[in-house]
Amino acid sequence: MKIDILTLFPNMFDGVFQESIIKRAIEEKKVEINLINFRDYTEDPHNKVDDTPFGGGAGMVLTCQPIFDCVESIRTEDSVVVLLTPDGEVYNQQMANDFCLKKHLILICGHYEGFDERIRSLCDREVSIGDYVLTGGEVPAMVLVDSITRLLPGVITEESHQNDSFQENLLDYPTYTKPRDFRGMEVPEVLISGDHQRIANWRREESLKKTQARRPDLLSK
Ligand code: ADE
Repeated sequence: MKIDILTLFPNMFDGVFQESIIKRAIEEKKVEINLINFRDYTEDPHNKVDDTPFGGGAGMVLTCQPIFDCVESIRTEDSVVVLLTPDGEVYNQQMANDFCLKKHLILICGHYEGFDERIRSLCDREVSIGDYVLTGGEVPAMVLVDSITRLLPGVITEESHQNDSFQENLLDYPTYTKPRDFRGMEVPEVLISGDHQRIANWRREESLKKTQARRPDLLSK
């Protein structure tokens, strides 16, 4: 899979893509990630990418020309263009599962006070990572890249994501490791029983109980 990220702040991504699982996925060519500064596409003599809003109001608005030219120069018929914006569809595991099957994602990070409304016409999807406002689309783009990359074949073991929280609209069951007793807090007996059927049943029940208690909205889906 190829992911192109259109941003004015490519350096913000350094740490996230240079550590751990994403770093390995890039090195092993499971994913190709390109950071594209759309300022490089501006035709403005002063390199501007934003301007004041028509009708007045605070702040600067990203202009159409650099983003249109950039997207049009990289998009193919395999591309899915995604705009990160707080008024998009709220991101979830199902969307990550869908995106991980695509060949080419183009993620557009908005910034400043907003972007010209006509930029939406370039996009196939608009995605928000939650009901709060961030300074720009960079952190949301990192969230998408992380959640999608871990689902790509061979990046982590198949078993790891079968058990993920949300994979069946259920939260994850509790897990424990050594020691069996830590400061009087003991590992549930069933997990030491060696009885695989009992363990599977227990995990399923714990998932259901936790989902019922914390996220009953998931069970009604
Ligand atoms: N840009 C600013 N806030 C955002 C959010 N919550 N989701 C996606 N993009 C954003």
